[in-house]
Amino acid sequence: MKILITGGAGYIGSVVAEQLIAAGDSVVVLDNLSQGHRAAVHPAAVFVHGDLTDRPAIDATFEQHRPEAVMHFASHTLVGESMQEPFLYLGENVVCGLNLLQSAVEHQVRRFILSSSANLFDAPERIPIAEMETIVPGSPYGESKHILERMLFWLDRIHDFRYAALRYFNAAGASEERGEDHDPETHLIPIVLRVALGQRDKVVIFGDDYPTRDGTCVRDYVHVLDLAQAHILALRALDKGSRVYNLGNGQGFTNREVVEVAREVTGHSIPAEIGPRRAGDPATLIASSERIRKELGWRPRYADLHTIIESAWRWHRTHPHGYEGL
Ligand code: UFG
Repeated sequence: MKILITGGAGYIGSVVAEQLIAAGDSVVVLDNLSQGHRAAVHPAAVFVHGDLTDRPAIDATFEQHRPEAVMHFASHTLVGESMQEPFLYLGENVVCGLNLLQSAVEHQVRRFILSSSANLFDAPERIPIAEMETIVPGSPYGESKHILERMLFWLDRIHDFRYAALRYFNAAGASEERGEDHDPETHLIPIVLRVALGQRDKVVIFGDDYPTRDGTCVRDYVHVLDLAQAHILALRALDKGSRVYNLGNGQGFTNREVVEVAREVTGHSIPAEIGPRRAGDPATLIASSERIRKELGWRPRYADLHTIIESAWRWHRTHPHGYEGL
């Protein structure tokens, strides 16, 4: 199948593109390179440098490349930033998604996979969090994903659109060639690994007064290659109906535990200190992924946090400056 991947130069999008190409699909990447990296785009993918605020550019991409499905990764993705700059999320994330959806409908492309988020669940009544949990977005970021999920719901009813909304918990790890390289880096695992590489002095853990076993936030880390597998399974199943899945390993680790595992993996002492809370952070996010396991047979291959951090560490050591210079 030919798939248009927005954000295919970014962390998760570039790995999903790589895995689709390995599975025999063809890929067109549309990315404005504001956060992504040209070197992260698989050489077998067609690359279109374009912006989702630009409707004519999106239309031209559909007309020229005639994709049969869309995977929409391009997004502002930071919970903390969205509490400082809500309009980047409630505005740009929503408008870009809307432009893409309108263009897809007008070009009769009715298969769509949305990168959604665990940030839909700020106040879960049950943990692990299943798809039926009440949606309470934790930040304007989570709200922007919720709005896009609602658009998809209506397009399914009105235009026979078939979609999958995949709500990632915390993506981590790397493939052989592609990994996490943000500027500035704000994510816990790459920051911790940069300390181990000697590029930072320490990690500051945001808050130790959460209602968790050691007071620091709990997250469910899922390997980016397992996320890629979930996209491929969801894509193949789309014609049987729209679906929503929570994607994680069903196991939570505190921020302190993540640092501890990284110490074991890297052999570095990784100095850590406690700082204030970061606005928008829910205390505990752990997924129940029973639904995608049952319906699509998804089985994470790299479920263990040690293995996940090892793969990220391998990538960081072989790419100490990320994609720079590649
Ligand atoms: N953290 C620190 N210090 C840091 C960076 C992060 O203590 O220097 C903490 C955060 O406060 C949080 C945990 O580490 O408790 C994980 O934070 P990340 O920034 O790595 O990831 P988030 O959980 O904030 O967000 C990520 C993605 C979102 C996605 C979310 C789903 O960036 O897009 O996972 O859980 F929505």
